Amino acid sequence: MNELAGKHIVLGLSGGVACYKSAELCRLLIKEGATVQVVMTEAAEHFMTPITMQALSGRTVYGSQWDAREPNHMPHINLSREADAIVVAPCSADFVARLAQGRADELLSLLCLARPQNSVPLLLAPAMNREMWAHPATQRNLAQVAQDGALVLGVGHGDQACGETGDGRMLEATELLEEVLAFFTPKRLAGQRVLITAGPTFEAIDPVRGITNHSSGKMGFAIARAAREAGAEVTLIAGPVHLPTPRGVQRINVQSAQNMLAAVVERAQAATIFIATAAVADWRPAAPSEQKIKKDGSGQMPVLHFVENPDILATVAQSPHALVGDLFCVGFAAESHDLLAHATAKRARKGVPLLVGNIGPATFGRDDNALLLLDAQGHRELPPASKRVLGQQLVEEIAARLPQPLTSH
Ligand code: C5P
Repeated sequence: MNELAGKHIVLGLSGGVACYKSAELCRLLIKEGATVQVVMTEAAEHFMTPITMQALSGRTVYGSQWDAREPNHMPHINLSREADAIVVAPCSADFVARLAQGRADELLSLLCLARPQNSVPLLLAPAMNREMWAHPATQRNLAQVAQDGALVLGVGHGDQACGETGDGRMLEATELLEEVLAFFTPKRLAGQRVLITAGPTFEAIDPVRGITNHSSGKMGFAIARAAREAGAEVTLIAGPVHLPTPRGVQRINVQSAQNMLAAVVERAQAATIFIATAAVADWRPAAPSEQKIKKDGSGQMPVLHFVENPDILATVAQSPHALVGDLFCVGFAAESHDLLAHATAKRARKGVPLLVGNIGPATFGRDDNALLLLDAQGHRELPPASKRVLGQQLVEEIAARLPQPLTSH
């Protein structure tokens, strides 16, 4: 992955135990193709040596505004002008207070103040004890820096270095990377509310057994992540899968097709885009047993009767909300052969403007895929790529097909 290729990030560290996570963040940013210039406050150097950050970033760390390496003796100007973004992680309570006041008596706060506000965004990853986090002074300062144009990232909840438990932990390095990637993504779905189904369903036979399938949920989760990065508010209705929830996505776990339908119907009215990636079981046992079905010694498996599950996509696509054009519906087709013919028929049957075909056995559980997009105009292929990339491409394709808002004259 090279999603930050060509981007130059100034990674600022202020004082806090969370500095140890910044070492990993630096590595992850570089792995994504960014160049990283680390700037550390004096307090940060008590928690992490500049040598470590130098080794990870491949550049000497800056710590002083009097650094003689800069011929013009103006590291605050030089470093901030070449950056695509300044990320302060950890951003201590003291550092937030300094930013709120516009102080400039050490290099990191000085370069934050000196940055061109319109072209060099400032992202802050707060890290502090829970009482410091909850203190009105901190919250007041955070509100002030946000108002002044900084993007204040969230904090985690959990055990703190001081032995207490609560809010104020710095986000993990992988979460911060996700936030940075989201930040750089064009907001093609700004203002959209996206509802996505993903994963398999589980249809109970009895309390310990059921029928499910091999859908991993990876494609749906990748689309959910890409949609959120593109600025949408995303709700993900997930069947039983063990995948981490993408940052900023609201996830609702369900088991059966009927659970999934209920969860979708409840939220479809508020959505503007519905993407059905779930591999919903076509059938469910007509009368699941309340007790475990035991062997009866006959050597015969008991006969199970099945009834057809509701078609969630077709139900939503035929709802008045979708029919008047307020909900853009996207269906998926997992086929084993004759993809174009089957997917064309499925698009008509489901009544959706966009249908995405893929070869089921070639994609279930894998990290890559290839997609065939079909709409009223025809079809086109999205060639083999990771589900991450395909999720991003599909979000672009959906954004391009959304009805244009009426412009007033
Ligand atoms: O009919 P088939 O299962 O092949 O259709 C696949 C598409 O329909 C997918 O988008 C899937 O999420 C959706 N679907 C659904 N409810 C069902 C069956 C399929 O939403 N009961």
